[in-house]
Amino acid sequence: MSFIPKDIEDYCIQHSTQPSELAKELMNFTRAGVHGSHMLIGEMEGSVLKFLIKLADVKKIIELGTYTGYSALIMAEALPEDGKIITIDLNPETSKIAQSFWDKSPHGKKIQLILKPGLEALATLSGEFDFFFIDADKNNYSNYLDWALKHLSKKGIIVVDNTLWYGKVLTAGLDKQTDSIREHNEKVLNLEGYTKTLLPIRDGMYLIQKG
Ligand SMILES: C[S@@+](CC[C@H](N)C(=O)[O-])C[C@H]1O[C@@H](n2cnc3c(N)ncnc32)[C@H](O)[C@@H]1O
Repeated sequence: MSFIPKDIEDYCIQHSTQPSELAKELMNFTRAGVHGSHMLIGEMEGSVLKFLIKLADVKKIIELGTYTGYSALIMAEALPEDGKIITIDLNPETSKIAQSFWDKSPHGKKIQLILKPGLEALATLSGEFDFFFIDADKNNYSNYLDWALKHLSKKGIIVVDNTLWYGKVLTAGLDKQTDSIREHNEKVLNLEGYTKTLLPIRDGMYLIQKG
């Protein structure tokens, strides 16, 4: 889903830093034959993630929702040599595709996959992280947010994807996922001591930072 007219979005993509050849290959491979390819973040959101990671001097990332590994690859490419991304998913098939592409990248060594349900995986982790990309399991968005807020470094950024959910967030009571995202968005709105902006990029990117 994108709220930006396609020709405008294409123009923005053309005038932004391009994904690597490997990232393009992974996107084409996924779009050509992997079930659920509409879930890919795409070039526009990918370039925003890269920009934020560089801007905030991010070193440690947690991603919820690996799928075929496109967003993890994009983010790993933006990290410094000693950067690290832990990405979490419960699907072994799509994770296998992800790993096969990361193995072809010089940035692949920065990526660690945890193949477990999100909350179970987070329970095995500790310490602070500079960047969270939450893109899995809409019903747990509020729980992932709570965990991220507790483990966010001082200048860290949380990005939560699909927070406009095809525009369905405007209406209460449509279905469980929409209500979960609405609940999450209200929680973010009411956070004190944080700066937040909900951007209409792709399906809605909610950005949250302390201060
Ligand atoms: C929107 S896709 C992620 C797309 C990916 N970030 C990208 O753009 O390349 C969501 C992923 O979340 C995973 N997922 C769903 N429920 C989950 C859960 N409870 N724990 C971990 N991962 C989950 C799915 O298997 C799917 O691969």
